[in-house]
Amino acid sequence: MFACFCLLFLFFIERRFYGESTPFGKKSHKTTEILGYLNSQQALADCAILIRSLKQNLSSEASPVVVFGGSYGETWFRLKYPHIAIGALASSAPILQFDNIVPLTSFYDAISQDFKVLYALFAKVMLQ
Ligand SMILES: *[C@@H]1O[C@H](CO)[C@@H](O)[C@H](O)[C@H]1NC(C)=O
Repeated sequence: MFACFCLLFLFFIERRFYGESTPFGKKSHKTTEILGYLNSQQALADCAILIRSLKQNLSSEASPVVVFGGSYGETWFRLKYPHIAIGALASSAPILQFDNIVPLTSFYDAISQDFKVLYALFAKVMLQ
């Protein structure tokens, strides 16, 4: 017999320059120099700093972190900060496309294959 105490923290991060996260106040969207900080590298760095700060404040330095969400951000985060996140779960994240690891057409090939299968299934059902 064993006892398990599980505690999960779930945080949603508002990216800089969106909503109320205006790093330069009302000037945040005024100049290209300031908007230069609106990029994926900065967004990932923000997440890394935030996660470290949260873990420290919650006395949870040893707790594993899994990032999740939509698109490529979470998988980029996992690739760039593997020492911070043990995993990433992302929908619609074509991350391997960036390193020329797979052919550029792989996404469209997969989608086309899905439609071929579905079309065949649909045709079969409609002809019954
Ligand atoms: C952690 O605590 C410090 C000191 O109170 C605070 O400045 C910082 O904003 C906190 N970090 C987070 C992510 O809440």
